[in-house]
Amino acid sequence: MRHGAKYPDLADRKVLVTGGATGIGAAIVAAFCEQGANVGFLDIDNQSGSVLAEGTGAVFRACDVRSVPTFMSTIDELSEALGGIEILVNNVAHDERHEAASLSWDAWRSNLAINLDPVMLASQRVFEEMKSRGSGTIINLASINAFLAPENLAAYNTAKAGIIALTKTLARAWGQFGVRVNAISPGWVVTERQLALWLSPEAESAWMKQVALKRRIVPGDVARLVLFLSSEESAAITGQNFVIDGGRI
Ligand SMILES: NC(=O)c1ccc[n+]([C@@H]2O[C@H](COP(=O)([O-])OP(=O)(O)OC[C@H]3O[C@@H](n4cnc5c(N)ncnc54)[C@H](O)[C@@H]3O)[C@@H](O)[C@H]2O)c1
Repeated sequence: MRHGAKYPDLADRKVLVTGGATGIGAAIVAAFCEQGANVGFLDIDNQSGSVLAEGTGAVFRACDVRSVPTFMSTIDELSEALGGIEILVNNVAHDERHEAASLSWDAWRSNLAINLDPVMLASQRVFEEMKSRGSGTIINLASINAFLAPENLAAYNTAKAGIIALTKTLARAWGQFGVRVNAISPGWVVTERQLALWLSPEAESAWMKQVALKRRIVPGDVARLVLFLSSEESAAITGQNFVIDGGRI
């Protein structure tokens, strides 16, 4: 990632990132580490997570968020390793494609168990500690898909719209305890996974016709916004959804 602003108040902050082993989550982990924060992250991808932990000094635990007991105990383990959690980044997701008409109930539930449920579950898990401290920051990764609703992503789109509503709801409920909750809705961010699976030259050229800024959005662009929303520089901001899409919507 490009080295950008330094936020002195982020040094030594205790940060938890879900789905932090690859893509945008990995850029967020690395960005917080560069700020001198104490970072813990969890992910189903044990290999990428271990490599990132070794390279950044962050603490990693492998975990499938679809198992709620495992997810909860992993958050607790990371919290214990860090000495608490002051900043939570709900990033985990899975953008598999499916036809709405033939999507089974099990597949729908499994999709929401990755894309929506962890935002609520992790936020609840860290809230009591944030409340007792009188401060905390939660940042939820949503998507412009919540507004554009492309076909073949019914569960993902629904989850992302839900995350935006949940963000505002939790911000209203928890602001009185000093806890800020914000969402970020990226456009198409060029990660290795997107390049491997969906971002063909044709698809990218179509995307570039639809955006104001004719440049790729990279994981570091999103990570920089996460840093700002985590720092005291954004102390008066809560309940918002920040679109970072190069001017697509
Ligand atoms: N890349 C984009 O274009 C884009 C656009 C809009 C929104 N977003 C959002 O930004 C966030 C990060 O995006 P990304 O493209 O890096 O996501 P991604 O899908 O590439 O990766 C998310 C991480 O979650 C992990 N993960 C998946 N299933 C898991 C499970 N069951 N348990 C634990 N970990 C699991 C993956 O291993 C991965 O490291 C996501 O919330 C995504 O929805 C991304």
